[in-house]
Amino acid sequence: MSDPIIQLTGIHAAYRHGRQRVTALDGVDLTVEHGEIFGLLGPNGAGKTTLLSILEGLLRPDRGRVTLDGIDVLAAPAEAKRRLGIQLQRSALIDDLTVAELVHLYSSLYEVEMSKAQVDELLARFDLADKVRSFARRLSGGQQQRLALALAVANDPPIVLLDEPTSALDPRARRAMWDIIRRLHTEGRTILLTTHAMEEAEALCSRVAIIDRGQIVACDTPAALIDQIDVRPILKAVIEVPLDRVAPLPGVRAARYTGQHLEVETAEPQVTLAALHQLAAEHGRRVGDVAIRPPNLEDVFLKLTGRSLG
Ligand SMILES: Nc1ncnc2c1ncn2[C@@H]1O[C@H](COP(=O)(O)OP(=O)(O)OP(=O)(O)O)[C@@H](O)[C@H]1O
Ligand SMILES: [Mg+2]
Repeated sequence: MSDPIIQLTGIHAAYRHGRQRVTALDGVDLTVEHGEIFGLLGPNGAGKTTLLSILEGLLRPDRGRVTLDGIDVLAAPAEAKRRLGIQLQRSALIDDLTVAELVHLYSSLYEVEMSKAQVDELLARFDLADKVRSFARRLSGGQQQRLALALAVANDPPIVLLDEPTSALDPRARRAMWDIIRRLHTEGRTILLTTHAMEEAEALCSRVAIIDRGQIVACDTPAALIDQIDVRPILKAVIEVPLDRVAPLPGVRAARYTGQHLEVETAEPQVTLAALHQLAAEHGRRVGDVAIRPPNLEDVFLKLTGRSLG
């Protein structure tokens, strides 16, 4: 088997605020193989961007080893960087340049000469063909995200790092972005992306590492992660009753409110549902909007950390 394309071993990293140190990564080991779409899933402040910054050579860890395609990032940062396409969490596009000017600027930074035909071809792949002469500031949020991704792959890198590529996108733009990410993957690239959205991790990723408070708490395929945690189906319903009355109902293993929905993990959904109807009636309420869903990565996170992804 070939070496992993991305490898982090024993990584510790901290930020300094005057005399204070904030630990951001606390003993992280991570391996990504050639050709994976790998997801780093975790809540705000978990350490996702910090991990990417280390791979990008922007932040030096206090301890640990990092390699990209077998190259030691700390010893040979310039050579490692040539393997990477990077989309930052907040892409600062230069407002007053046109789309075509930005592509030329980026490709020259990578020391790649691009002809007009190549620029057109690149933008067409990202569905921006008609925006060549538009100013970056005139693009919609989704178009700006696609442009940031086009710029990230202008140097044809084998590894692409995407920091929350779809946050702040509406569902349609998000799906368009998923298609583009899949295409980058089909072209033979390895993708490492971060997200807080468990449905994104499930939809795109061959493997997922769940990261919380600077530590990787689980790493596997989404299906295996869900299997391992031994969560039963989740009964969802709109109902207003006290949680401490739900917990003792037959079949119930756990119960919580998420927004206006009650979510009940139950070994016997039908029995629990009947009991919920009765409980609602006692409170002069009705049960609405009932659904039973299989366990998902959100449940995995909840089980492992006792908190929701947020
Ligand atoms: N430049 C910085 N200076 C000081 N502390 C920082 C800095 N960047 C991040 N941190 C802290 O390091 C920890 C990890 O932050 P990081 O940005 O890696 O999280 P994240 O998982 O990317 O979160 P988000 O989902 O909000 O982007 C947090 O406690 C954060 O407050
Ligand atoms: Mg981040």
